[in-house]
Amino acid sequence: MKLEINSSEEMQNLGATIAKTAQPNDLLLLTGDLGAGKTTMTQGIGRALGVRRPVKSPTFTIVREYREAKIPLFHMDFYRLENDDLSSIDLNAYLHEDGLVVMEWPQVIMTELPDEYLQLNIKRVDDSWNSTKREVEIQAKGKRNEDWENDILTKFKA
Ligand SMILES: Nc1ncnc2c1ncn2[C@@H]1O[C@H](COP(=O)(O)OP(=O)(O)O)[C@@H](O)[C@H]1O
Ligand SMILES: [Mg+2]
Repeated sequence: MKLEINSSEEMQNLGATIAKTAQPNDLLLLTGDLGAGKTTMTQGIGRALGVRRPVKSPTFTIVREYREAKIPLFHMDFYRLENDDLSSIDLNAYLHEDGLVVMEWPQVIMTELPDEYLQLNIKRVDDSWNSTKREVEIQAKGKRNEDWENDILTKFKA
């Protein structure tokens, strides 16, 4: 399923809808080029979960934890991951926490992930550098994630 998004605010609202429909132990994968809006969406998720600190890109730390959130939020970014750097975080421990795990650039660690997740691929649809239009393609793997996707689509448009 595809959604059209017209501004950063709308992307954060989509993040808020994702947050409100998330359950502990959910896994959200965010793909798309640099500047597509993955971190912007995650900021919307954090805010809707009651995180008061700014949600910043975890590019240099791999993971940032927001345990104060209504559902604990674990925000990861694997963009700069080198071959064996994954040993610096206990990925399985995070995947077993009762929290929402959000991953930017999960492509490099796909083999380490469970087969069930919700994936959002964000694309720019205009060539102009400052366009705020994005297309978000949603892919759900597994029953829970199909339900989650439907829930998001229903509530986002409402
Ligand atoms: N519709 C939109 N959705 C998300 N970000 C947008 C949108 N339109 C413009 N932007 C801008 O594009 C940039 C996206 O950056 P960021 O979220 O860090 O991308 P990523 O994490 O995918 O590299 C931000 O400066 C944001 O304000
Ligand atoms: Mg980012």
